[in-house]
Amino acid sequence: MRTDTTFEIDLTEEQIAFFHDNGFLSIERITTDEEIEWLKGIYNQLFDERAGEEKGLYYDLAAPRGHDGREVLPQVLGPDITIPELRESNHYRNALKLSKQLLGDDEKVRAGGHMIFKPARYGAETPWHQDEAYWSPDVYLNSLSVWMPLDEATVESGCMQFIPGSHKGDLCWHRHIDNDPLIHGLMTDDIDPSKAVACPLAPGGATFHSYRTLHHTAPNTTDNPRRAYILVCSGPEKKRDTPAPRPWSEQEREAMKKAGLDVPLL
Ligand code: NI
Repeated sequence: MRTDTTFEIDLTEEQIAFFHDNGFLSIERITTDEEIEWLKGIYNQLFDERAGEEKGLYYDLAAPRGHDGREVLPQVLGPDITIPELRESNHYRNALKLSKQLLGDDEKVRAGGHMIFKPARYGAETPWHQDEAYWSPDVYLNSLSVWMPLDEATVESGCMQFIPGSHKGDLCWHRHIDNDPLIHGLMTDDIDPSKAVACPLAPGGATFHSYRTLHHTAPNTTDNPRRAYILVCSGPEKKRDTPAPRPWSEQEREAMKKAGLDVPLL
């Protein structure tokens, strides 16, 4: 059952300033332990069912589409489309409220979710990237991601790591993992990992990062799963006069067409 306990939080001025200076923020708690237990059941069910695979809503982020080996970084997109009750949670409500504080308190801020699962012992790395590299080339983005673990997230299990201040730079050149355009996961080589700041979290904590902040999670080498639920919160976007170049997305579209994969590129 979903928890009926309301859990309210706010960001301080210092936290908001930290986010704008550094491009990320870590908070100890965004929801209750009770709600995390409820979410774990839903999370496991969605991955067991490979929810929405035929619509392109379930795939392995770090292996070629359609591969038949074990999954190393499976992802579910739009879990709240399958289970609308997810939008009635403390997690969802707090993520949206705090995102409005960080994006500028705009009533038009909307949230969309995805879940990324790093299996125990062999869950793959999510290489360094900026989320903007995945998203629409037609607009100037105005968004951030709220990343919440359902399990203890340490450096060894794949907690978030960020490059402070990288949100003030440009979009880096990205390429597909293993240079294989059938692997959806992107990475950049334009990175100095010695500047990384790791943000370990207990279940129910959260990090926030801007669409342009460089981030990464290490492979899961622990005996525990690392389940993460991410909400992307976006304010109104301004249309670009000309689309920003995203050659890696074109390569992926072409490779999928060639391989006869007719799922949408999401
Ligand atoms: Ni990302």
